[in-house]
Amino acid sequence: MIPTIRVLANGEELAWQVAERLAKAAEDAVVATGRFAVALSGGSTPQTLYRVLAKDFATKVPWRQTHILFVDERCVPPEHADSNFGAACRLLLDHVDVDYQNVHRMAGEREPAAAAQEYDRLLQEQFGAGMDLILLGMGEDGHTASLFPGTEAVQEQQRLCVANYVPRLSAWRLTMTARYINRAFEVVAMITGAAKAGMVDEALAGMGAPARLPIQLVQPTSGRFLWMMDAAAAGMDDPGESDDVGMEDG
Ligand code: 6PG
Repeated sequence: MIPTIRVLANGEELAWQVAERLAKAAEDAVVATGRFAVALSGGSTPQTLYRVLAKDFATKVPWRQTHILFVDERCVPPEHADSNFGAACRLLLDHVDVDYQNVHRMAGEREPAAAAQEYDRLLQEQFGAGMDLILLGMGEDGHTASLFPGTEAVQEQQRLCVANYVPRLSAWRLTMTARYINRAFEVVAMITGAAKAGMVDEALAGMGAPARLPIQLVQPTSGRFLWMMDAAAAGMDDPGESDDVGMEDG
């Protein structure tokens, strides 16, 4: 599946557009099911989005009905500077009316396999149908979530969450698997910065190298799939107005 591609002028505009989509997805999900389940990614790209959501969407999202999950986590305690959960709390969750009973963090402080098994059980038992929305990033090496090129998790066909050793980082990670990500009703990849332009071109050129380019594993079974990029990541000087290219999915 070729994703729908939107190119925005810059990271701020991208964050605003993603926030609008999240608010719409939340409204639709709560009307349909009484809750909204969204999985957040780590890294730096989402941080602008978290600030926009905290500042301008505190009353535009049904936060009390929102379940917050995580696409992946570093194997560190929640108070560690590298914790994706910790960053989301500092920049977003501590500033909106979310019910912390509905915030489901991956236990980065635990032994990785046990933490992954615990999260896998949570996904199976409470979110087996898939997320309403998953927000992904992409690394310059084509990784997404903590599905890094050449690592075991890229091959996982059964479980929904696994522990994944990443030799390049000499570190363990916890990550949702492609099998689970692809159950989502909607997946939005947020990609910014000129350093990723080459990988964007390579990843979109074909879908034939998922082991080498894990972002290509993201092929939602029936959900919408959107790549939102800034002009730099799209290799454009300045798109002026945001451009929709590619087919509208689903
Ligand atoms: C993580 C993320 C990871 C991230 C990419 C892009 O835990 O680091 O889940 O997959 O999305 O590495 O990171 P940036 O947004 O910092 O470029």
